[in-house]
Amino acid sequence: MDANEIERLIKISKEHPLMPETYIPWHLDPGADDIFLPESMTSLHGLEIYDTLTSNQKLELGRQELVQVIASYAWGECLFCLFMTRHLLTLPPDNVEHRFLLRELIEEFRHQEMFGQAISRLGGKPVSQSATHKFFGMFSNKYLPADYLFMGSISVELVTDIYGNCARTSPNIYPVLKKMFDLHAVEEARHILFTKNLLKTYSEKAGYIKRTLYSYVILFNILFLRTMYVKKEIYKRIGLENYKQLYKMAAPNFKKKFSETCLTGIIQFVDSWKGFNGATRWAWRWLLAAKV
Ligand SMILES: [Fe+2]
Ligand SMILES: [Fe+2]
Repeated sequence: MDANEIERLIKISKEHPLMPETYIPWHLDPGADDIFLPESMTSLHGLEIYDTLTSNQKLELGRQELVQVIASYAWGECLFCLFMTRHLLTLPPDNVEHRFLLRELIEEFRHQEMFGQAISRLGGKPVSQSATHKFFGMFSNKYLPADYLFMGSISVELVTDIYGNCARTSPNIYPVLKKMFDLHAVEEARHILFTKNLLKTYSEKAGYIKRTLYSYVILFNILFLRTMYVKKEIYKRIGLENYKQLYKMAAPNFKKKFSETCLTGIIQFVDSWKGFNGATRWAWRWLLAAKV
């Protein structure tokens, strides 16, 4: 990506900021017909049990799972901000990449505040990350080199972008959430553009082994994200019995729909630098049910 293009992205970020405080109609309460997550994106939709739920339970399932999604974004973005802050120290302050990353940090911090406010507005109580998630999140953030962390970030951004688009374009979505996802889509589009171009340089130089490692880093980031959404605690909260049993059915159900809905962009990206090969393809199929 040439410096002029990055300057253009910095300029847009400065001249057209979207402030969550004013852009989102926080004062609006959910309307009687408003939903929080499209039904088809909830983990139980598609299973027989879903049809036995009351309409209130369906609504609650959407609300609580959406809270889980937002909380996962906020946590993921916070981890990425930690990395970006350290990465900034390796770049001179007048460097164009340094200046873009500062804009990205400013926006990501606003997003995290916005996500937190949305969770409060929804009266949500996120289920905290498992010990495994915490360990891998902190470990990879601290020890992986910059190119691997940018690979991880783009995978999360591309996947969450699709997820947010499904939510914001669905009819009857609570307006606070619609505007929140609108804002996020606009600002993330710039981050995605920048990161994709940055990674083009890395992936062009990468040989077979490095491409394989990049591909695995992306795969594990997506797996990491997907497994933060479905929680048995939520089934318990909405009054479902046998919630442990239910989780065993919901996890593969969600894996299937997640693969059908959310992977298109990231598959194209990995394919563009030949990240699918004999050493990676089987894992994408097995762990993510990806059609590669
Ligand atoms: Fe963000
Ligand atoms: Fe971002």
